[in-house]
Amino acid sequence: MIHLITAENCHLYKREMLEHFRIRHDIYVGERKWKAIERADGLERDQFDDDDSIYVLAVEDEHVVGGSRLRPTLKPHLLGEVFPHLAQVHGVPRGADIYEWTRLFILKERRGGWGNAALPGQIVCGGLEYCLDEGINAFTLILEMWWVPRFHEMGWRITPLGLPAIVENEWWVAAMVTVNPQMLESTRRYCGLPSRPILTRRGLPELPVKRKYA
Ligand code: COA
Repeated sequence: MIHLITAENCHLYKREMLEHFRIRHDIYVGERKWKAIERADGLERDQFDDDDSIYVLAVEDEHVVGGSRLRPTLKPHLLGEVFPHLAQVHGVPRGADIYEWTRLFILKERRGGWGNAALPGQIVCGGLEYCLDEGINAFTLILEMWWVPRFHEMGWRITPLGLPAIVENEWWVAAMVTVNPQMLESTRRYCGLPSRPILTRRGLPELPVKRKYA
């Protein structure tokens, strides 16, 4: 199941959140060798993992198998604080309706494609659903260049914010993506997911009965 975790319900997910920080360390430091974020406690938790961040976690058999993080751009965030040079052409977008999306990961043994309702699609559609529910009209990303054609195929409108640059031996670019119900629908189609909400909102207030999208 795909769970939405915020400051409001994180007390219900203490074990899962800890497991998620440990997996992030295994993946980003162990596998991807991003030594700059290595931590002695084996938990990849940075200055942006605070009460303002929102998590979309995939949990199966009581274990985290994937996840991602969303964060308001009105708060300090990765692009604004650490990589603003990637947004040198258009500047770092900030606004109440703009979030930053980072740290998409899947356990190594669960990877292998986005079709057939696979985990990456579930997590991404969960994040898009959150954006639409909360009136978030766009998100920023710092992405490796190889993502761009995939996102285009999903029907995303991506605006680069600056020129690509090498980070950790890969070409990265900062971009902004517009969110609307049509792109959620095209993403669902690409990922082989049905047109219905996927997010579990345990311990969070009920949403208005009539959403602006399916
Ligand atoms: N460079 C180029 N292409 C890459 C790539 C990389 N570093 N990583 C993945 N891809 C592309 C490849 O086309 C790959 O196809 P292949 O099987 O022919 O190699 C395809 O994506 C599928 O990648 P896969 O690793 O099977 O993962 P997935 O699509 O199921 O999930 C991620 C994608 C990013 C969630 C997963 O790779 C992951 O968790 N990676 C570690 C965390 C990470 O780096 N996240 C992104 C930055 S925050």
